Amino acid sequence: MNVLRLADLIAQGRVAGRRVFIRADLNVPQDADGRITEDTRIRASLPCLRMALQAGAAVMVTSHLGRPTEGEFKPADSLAPVAARLSELLGRAVPLRSDWVDGVAVAPGELVLLENCRLNKGEKKNDPVLARKLAALCDIFVHDAFGTAHRAEASTYGIAEYAPVACAGPLLAAEIDALTQALAQPQRPLVAIVAGSKVSTKLTILQSLAAKVDGLIVGGGIANTFLLAAGLPIGKSLAEPDLVGAARAVIEAMRARGAAVPLPVDVVTARDFRADAPASVKAAADVAADDLILDIGPQTAAMLAAQLKAAGTIVWNGPVGVFEFDAYAHGTETLARAIAASPAFSIAGGGDTLAAIAKYGIEADIGYISTGGGAFLEVLEGRTLPALEILARRAAG
Ligand code: 3PG
Repeated sequence: MNVLRLADLIAQGRVAGRRVFIRADLNVPQDADGRITEDTRIRASLPCLRMALQAGAAVMVTSHLGRPTEGEFKPADSLAPVAARLSELLGRAVPLRSDWVDGVAVAPGELVLLENCRLNKGEKKNDPVLARKLAALCDIFVHDAFGTAHRAEASTYGIAEYAPVACAGPLLAAEIDALTQALAQPQRPLVAIVAGSKVSTKLTILQSLAAKVDGLIVGGGIANTFLLAAGLPIGKSLAEPDLVGAARAVIEAMRARGAAVPLPVDVVTARDFRADAPASVKAAADVAADDLILDIGPQTAAMLAAQLKAAGTIVWNGPVGVFEFDAYAHGTETLARAIAASPAFSIAGGGDTLAAIAKYGIEADIGYISTGGGAFLEVLEGRTLPALEILARRAAG
């Protein structure tokens, strides 16, 4: 897709002395005390900030954090912890500005962080009045928030419509290049892992992948719905009985292409959802009425690991068990290590997936780690992200 890139503008000498507004995705997980628990997105946003600063721009950067109520500031919604982390990583002070919509004082060579943009009224609905105000703050708008590129909000879409110049930052550009190139002509077999709590949130991706992949590994609550579709018992496990028909259709679509959705032959169950709940390994057919399936069993894990080691390309979104609890982490760890050991080109995305990759220390063995969750899935589905659509429209003049 033809979009203007920040690197091109810099090469053309169009950035020095300009007011540059960067929309980053600095939406990072925090613990109960507000401490950042995983900072991949912050680190991934640094190249864009450095590029703009080195080019002599006056730099404003903003992001959302969570899903706050617009117009109602609560301390937990503040980007203050992000400002502190950014400042450590950049080795310079990063002032945090509140109430910034009507004007931001920033000089060339300076960088300011603008408070959580989802606190601005009209952000989510992409209100044109707000979008025009944001656009008026800058000479150049840079979209570098790949993780939010599937949202059409005032700071991601409207501002790109009205800013004098709108371009893609290096992270957005790299993500799109890597994902589209890897999926355009993938080395086969192409195996996807789609796991998570609900089929409903990932149904369209499952349907779309069923037409493309050679193996579709499902995990978590999604696998439970597929087990139900195959007529197997799941006890009191999380599942969506309403979507059994949709799951069956995915299995059939794969079968019609000579491909498969490998279902667990064994599982790890508990009576309660607790880290210290006693774990039992049993055949998938033997799950009792009061069992909760919290992981795939060792036989299934070994079977899937072999499939991943023989793959040409692997796309990974979601852990296959409750890997946060040690007794239920074996399946996710086995697959993670199989992906790391596989000669296949692997692409991983999604918050839980990133956490699993970090837990097992396999970052260096993954072909490409995306900072996107929902945006990653939408690219896999083959959808055009709103961010790309508007940047392409602006580039076309
Ligand atoms: C994410 O965490 O996937 C992105 O930051 C987007 O967040 P959102 O789903 O709240 O828009």
